[in-house]
Amino acid sequence: MKLRKLSDSDFEFLLRLLTDSEVREYLGGAVPFNEAKKRVSTLLNQKPKSYWVIEVKDSPIGTVVFGEHVDSGEVELSYQLLPEYVGQGLAFKAVQEALRNNGSSLVVAETQVKNFKSRKLLARLGFKEIKRLERFGEVQAYYELRTKQ
Ligand SMILES: CC(C)(COP(=O)(O)OP(=O)(O)OC[C@H]1O[C@@H](n2cnc3c(N)ncnc32)[C@H](O)[C@@H]1OP(=O)(O)O)[C@@H](O)C(=O)NCCC(=O)NCCS
Repeated sequence: MKLRKLSDSDFEFLLRLLTDSEVREYLGGAVPFNEAKKRVSTLLNQKPKSYWVIEVKDSPIGTVVFGEHVDSGEVELSYQLLPEYVGQGLAFKAVQEALRNNGSSLVVAETQVKNFKSRKLLARLGFKEIKRLERFGEVQAYYELRTKQ
């Protein structure tokens, strides 16, 4: 497993992540194909620095992204794997490495309470659940990870 930056060759992979109903189960569902194509084009035009691609044997299999939390403005972690790579500890390894590169003293994450795999990953990484809230008609858990600087 290694992390790398976004590349134009990621178009098909990113399209699959957005349009796959399993990946999107707790992320509002699969994005319609034409809308997904637009989003991927915009993303590849921008190539944000905080967007990591997880690669296994030279193929993209997932992402780790640092964004800005909509309410708190803190650095927000999110991650996705293609379904066939779930259950192998790859997200855990990838996020650990991305967190080492990130260097923020506080990182937050928000995930649907129903998303057990995501909550298990956050707990294993050392994130603490701080509160619950409702967003997009779903109960969400809000987590924080504070690192010693
Ligand atoms: C959330 C998500 C990334 C979790 O992936 P994951 O593979 O379960 O996470 P981890 O990398 O922590 O792997 C843990 C699993 O690998 C297993 N595993 C196998 N080998 C392992 C190893 N060497 N080290 C650690 N875990 C290992 C663990 O036992 C565990 O399996 P279990 O859930 O059956 O107990 C994945 O489900 C996903 O992409 N979901 C769709 C997108 C999504 O919802 N993202 C969250 C948005 S907030």
